[in-house]
Amino acid sequence: MNMHSLDKSGSHDIGDTGIACAAVIGAGAMGSGLAAQFANAGIPVFLLDIPGQEDNRNAPAEGGVVRQLKANGFMHENAARLVTTGNVDDHLDRLAEADWIIEAVVENLDVKHALYRKIDRVRKAGSIVSSNTSTIPRVALISGSTDEFAADFIITHFFNPPRFMQLVEIVGSADNDQALLTRVSNACETILGKTIVNCFDTPGFIANRIGCLWLSVAVVDAVECGLTVEEADASMVALGVPSTGAFGLLDLIGIDLVPLIWGSLIDKLPPTDALNKHALITHPLITELIAQGHFGRKTKAGFYRQGPNRIRDALDLSIGKYRAENAVSKNMLPGEGGDISALLNDTSPLGRYAWRVLSSVIAYSAEHASEIAEDIGAIDTAMILGYAWKEGPFQLVQRYGIENFIERMQHDGHKIPDLILSARNLGGFFSSTGQPLMTDGSGFVTQAIPPSLLAPPSRRVVNDPDASIIDIGDGVSCLEIHTKLNSISPGVLNVIEQALERGGSDFDALVIGNDNPRTFSAGANLSHILSLLRNGSEKDIEEFLLRGQQLLSGLKYAPFPVVAAAHGLALGGGCEILLHADLIVAHAELNAGLPETKVGLIPSWGGCTQLLVRGNQSTTEPKGPAAIAAAVFTQIQNGHVHTSAQQASSAGILRKQDKIVMNRAHVLTTAKALSLQLIGDEYQPPAQTELSLSGPSGKLGLIAVANGQKAAGVATPTDMVIADQLATIVSGGLKGDPLLPISEDALMQLEREAFLFLANTAATHARIEHMLATGKPLRN
Ligand code: NAI
Repeated sequence: MNMHSLDKSGSHDIGDTGIACAAVIGAGAMGSGLAAQFANAGIPVFLLDIPGQEDNRNAPAEGGVVRQLKANGFMHENAARLVTTGNVDDHLDRLAEADWIIEAVVENLDVKHALYRKIDRVRKAGSIVSSNTSTIPRVALISGSTDEFAADFIITHFFNPPRFMQLVEIVGSADNDQALLTRVSNACETILGKTIVNCFDTPGFIANRIGCLWLSVAVVDAVECGLTVEEADASMVALGVPSTGAFGLLDLIGIDLVPLIWGSLIDKLPPTDALNKHALITHPLITELIAQGHFGRKTKAGFYRQGPNRIRDALDLSIGKYRAENAVSKNMLPGEGGDISALLNDTSPLGRYAWRVLSSVIAYSAEHASEIAEDIGAIDTAMILGYAWKEGPFQLVQRYGIENFIERMQHDGHKIPDLILSARNLGGFFSSTGQPLMTDGSGFVTQAIPPSLLAPPSRRVVNDPDASIIDIGDGVSCLEIHTKLNSISPGVLNVIEQALERGGSDFDALVIGNDNPRTFSAGANLSHILSLLRNGSEKDIEEFLLRGQQLLSGLKYAPFPVVAAAHGLALGGGCEILLHADLIVAHAELNAGLPETKVGLIPSWGGCTQLLVRGNQSTTEPKGPAAIAAAVFTQIQNGHVHTSAQQASSAGILRKQDKIVMNRAHVLTTAKALSLQLIGDEYQPPAQTELSLSGPSGKLGLIAVANGQKAAGVATPTDMVIADQLATIVSGGLKGDPLLPISEDALMQLEREAFLFLANTAATHARIEHMLATGKPLRN
């Protein structure tokens, strides 16, 4: 075990889980991905697989790390250093160091049993052992185990890929202490950033049980209804289950895995189970594709195939040959893809197919609900997070109308599951406050779901169309942007101004954040900028820039703490808000950056200035005006969007004092807690910084870099114009001098001048227009 030594010094949030070191056994798709996710959270982890050849007995486990590095399983390549690879023959004793051991070896009960015996001999007392099995019930896994092992053993079923799939299904039992279950649940949420769903101990748990049935029905019925792959997928997409459709999803999962996953499940379910009725494994479509080696995306051909010139082919289900894809657009569907009742009630083959698939899945879910989960919310959540459905089966039937559903099922001659009748009697699957129905139909879940900090009864102090100020308690307010993509409009700037006016008197600290699932803020409203360029005078544009700069600077130097609760997209102006906050609490999956050059502009709400300030204050990055200017120049010129909070840290957007949290749901609460801490620490705003920059000679060096890119064909003529303006700013202007430090205000004036210059060029107009029309950058 020599690849890396464990580094236990990193600070990471393990809450009260007691999990400071983890181990994963099995370095395949799941095991290596799980090890990467522990490392992403700063937890040192052993990754063991079977021994390789004598020349490198750790090769199988090392291969897992390499695959995760290629597949973006790590949020930062440095995280891979926290993974110590080894093999189960030579390094099993190291499991004694692990607080949580996850088994992720092949889905074979005998292999798993044999491994558990070995683990039990070496693990430390009280360590948690969990299996990542996707189908095998816990009761079968623990058969023959010691009582101590059984007490510490649960199932934690993560989904593929572990970094990006949010769901983990947990199966515990009465053998387990409640304290252990709480520890694991907290670890899954806090350390690994997941949403947990508790399942009963049945084959395939919740998501795979329902998901496999759905995929089986979707394939079998598409053939029976005489639909094409595209028609079938379009009707599933219209139901929101999910954006790939069923055939597209099978391509993604891998058609070769059908015999394995479905086989393992069917093996354990009674022959009466509906999964046997819609037999997928023996379906000629599946057997034929497997025989031809057409496994889906991994072999570049499955139900769809990437043809030449990026044109997709689709499999013609009637003749088993590929032909050009006939895309089915939304407006070709009954209800135009937005009205599920119109689709489900339509008498065309497409409508009948949608009804057959959905009604089968809903009936199956309702029939088996009480075997697999305590409440229907667990089933909906599992399908949303595990199979990327927009809504779960019970949300869908509620939207379609329970009465309509029952009537139609009766008309079709089907028995109505008791749970659906209970829901009808109780007025729906959800209470008036949104609590889900218990699966035994006895009533609604009583345990309150903790509301978001921003939800009622929080107080909206300012409620403008584009943004609000919300009292989130304890003297803290939250500025919530709620425009499309949370772009920053003049209306948003007005609310920032109001937040600054109220701060210090109406509240003691400000958090900037929101509950939008995807976006903190995608930046300044580009349409507004274009309309200013087209219709406004130069003065209007300069005023817009100045106002943004003054308000964001206002946030930085306000007499009260400002904490940004960052997640999802934080681009351009959104990223500039982060750069002006006292503290950033970032979701680990943050996408932050300053991509203004892609629309022919440069960051001009203090973005260039604050990156230079950060470079100057950094204790880890290279020192000296030239090195700092070069780093900021490269970052802004490339317009690179960093794909994790750790990457944003490396780029200087996040600093050492900023906090990365793994769970999106914890971002706002952590931001509020830290803002209270800043108040308690007798907050003082930062002092203004004066920067020594390299001046014209430094600019020459940066232009030389850009010229090199031009010569290599990387930089376009427009890129060169932008590079010139950017180089002027980061070197401190034409009168810049390393011996004469320059103020932040003076740098922001340089930003405005560069922006105005670029805004007057036709190339920049063309870039903005192209971005607004296509969502893609123009290379001119
Ligand atoms: P895989 O086939 O990619 O990897 C399994 C790994 O286990 C291989 O590297 C193999 O060498 C290793 N292995 C086999 N026997 C071993 C032993 N005795 N000791 C140490 N290592 C051993 O499998 P995958 O897909 O990663 O699945 C692992 C587990 O996770 C299975 O139980 C599977 O059902 C479950 N799962 C798989 C998902 C997927 O999408 N692939 C999703 C969720 C769960």
